[in-house]
Amino acid sequence: MKRIFSGIQPSGTITLGNYIGAMKQFVELQNDYDCFFCIVDQHAITVPQDRLQLRKNIKSLAAMYIAVGIDPKKATIFIQSEVPAHAQAGWMLQCVSYIGELERMTQFKDKSQGKEAVVAGLLTYPPLMAGDILLYNTDIVPVGEDQKQHLELTRDLAERFNKKYNDIFTIPEVRITKVGARVMSLQDPLKKMSKSDPNQKAFISLLDEPKQIEKKIKSAVTDSEGIVEYDKENKPGISNLLSIYSIFSGETIDEIVQKYEGKGYGDFKGDLAQVVVDALTPIQQRYYELIDSEELDQILDEGAQKANAIASKMAKKMENAMGLGRKRK
Ligand code: TYM
Repeated sequence: MKRIFSGIQPSGTITLGNYIGAMKQFVELQNDYDCFFCIVDQHAITVPQDRLQLRKNIKSLAAMYIAVGIDPKKATIFIQSEVPAHAQAGWMLQCVSYIGELERMTQFKDKSQGKEAVVAGLLTYPPLMAGDILLYNTDIVPVGEDQKQHLELTRDLAERFNKKYNDIFTIPEVRITKVGARVMSLQDPLKKMSKSDPNQKAFISLLDEPKQIEKKIKSAVTDSEGIVEYDKENKPGISNLLSIYSIFSGETIDEIVQKYEGKGYGDFKGDLAQVVVDALTPIQQRYYELIDSEELDQILDEGAQKANAIASKMAKKMENAMGLGRKRK
């Protein structure tokens, strides 16, 4: 069975962007692949985090993985820092990465721009991410579009390592959904929807209450034309809302456009809010059942065990390839 690996940072609330770009794919893929879904807490500390809040976010993301439909009997869910091989692999891969290529990562440029003191971890984040993926002989990595560049680097690093040392890594493929690969901010449809956006109205959290969802969708920035149609270039706001509608309702964009012919944005937005609320309500119910349960800790313990068994072997293989430590079986 082919293997899948993906991760999400526990760096705040989980947004519709995370769900549509990543989690929804995870749920669809779990039946046909051997899946590993990680809570990448070591990535989260590349920007300042409050210790207690981070711990909360880790558990919250774990509960959310299950609440959206990932079945821990089918897929392995675990916390990155509970599997030490990730940091080990990250270090070894840093030693085959060039500073120049890391500085070219758009995420690094965005996050370091205008800052006086930039932590080294922000620069060396991609080799850690490459380690996450390569430790599991991953075939496919489902992510949103913003991670594409990191995946390309992961493939480069794997090929470089294989050539320089020993041919031990599978070269992973990226998998990006067609609709919803880049869910845009509700307040600035030219910007990606992000959980770290200071403007709360820019994103919908999977835990937002119906009233908040309605408010945020109603105040989403569109245009003054008032015609519901898909035109990403000229009407990015309404096009973004159409994608969200399509994903949650299962209707195609064409079908939705037809439905709202002659109607204004008000009707469309009201219905979209309802569609989103209907989809999120059962997810939220499951989330609140799980969040303080022992079941969740058990799932994470088992996940860490399974992940450790695989990842520690690969880390050893990497060390052997590089000549680290002593020769042992
Ligand atoms: P992160 O935590 O920023 O986002 C998690 C996943 O959600 C997707 N995503 C989006 N998709 C569509 N529209 C959006 N507005 C949107 N916002 C976020 C992301 O593309 C991602 O798939 N570096 C990764 C975490 C990571 C990882 C890994 C991923 C660490 N190691 C190994 C895959 C494999 C990140 O910061 O994702």
